[in-house]
Amino acid sequence: MHLIEFSHVYKNYDKNYILRDLNFTVDKGEFIFITGPSGAGKTTTLRMLTAVEKPTHGAIRFMDAALQDLKPKDIPFLRRKIGFVFQDFKLLPDKTVFQNVALGLEVSGIFGSIITKNVSEILKSVELYTKKNEFPTALSGGEQQRVAIARALVQNPQVLLADEPTGNLDEDTSKIIMDIIKSFNNKGTTVMLATHNKNLINMGRARVIDITKS
Ligand SMILES: Nc1ncnc2c1ncn2[C@@H]1O[C@H](COP(=O)(O)OP(=O)(O)OP(=O)(O)O)[C@@H](O)[C@H]1O
Ligand SMILES: [Mg+2]
Repeated sequence: MHLIEFSHVYKNYDKNYILRDLNFTVDKGEFIFITGPSGAGKTTTLRMLTAVEKPTHGAIRFMDAALQDLKPKDIPFLRRKIGFVFQDFKLLPDKTVFQNVALGLEVSGIFGSIITKNVSEILKSVELYTKKNEFPTALSGGEQQRVAIARALVQNPQVLLADEPTGNLDEDTSKIIMDIIKSFNNKGTTVMLATHNKNLINMGRARVIDITKS
């Protein structure tokens, strides 16, 4: 069974359809790019996977859940299986690096020594453990994005969704971020990365889903 399956997905906000008959599957452990020009519906595609948006028609399956039929009470369970990284990092400015990463675990009801252990481990893997007590404003853009990746992955989600994760970063820093995302993918995390940046896609050497062709 595929991890993710979009079947005949249509989406409109007003009378114009953004997505028409979008079909694709993603298997566990895969790395895929979602591409298409600005306004094509890349963010919308990822938002439908987190059930922020519903498809207008069609079916989206994630593991054993049919997302178009998901009840509001089931949404928190879905979201725990998904890590999300944004273009603009979205770190909380009044919390330290450690606290930003710990927050997701606390929301899931995990506290104490398990938090310390898991947050420390993931911060070491993005090489930011020494900055654990800094606030986001003291970090570079690339460092902030590494914290955001750590925050997304600390709960060991089934899939990492990254929406233009290097859009605010220079080319060298983008490569560092891509290498980190790739390294987690090599350890088993499924990745869906939305971007219109062809350089990034060439860097990734992975399957590309062009949603403008839907
Ligand atoms: N909540 C919303 N209400 C109405 N229209 C929306 C909403 N969200 C997105 N849209 C419209 O849907 C279209 C697709 O938007 P989306 O953000 O998914 O594109 P994108 O491919 O991610 O673009 P970009 O590369 O600029 O991030 C756009 O025309 C946008 O204006
Ligand atoms: Mg977008």
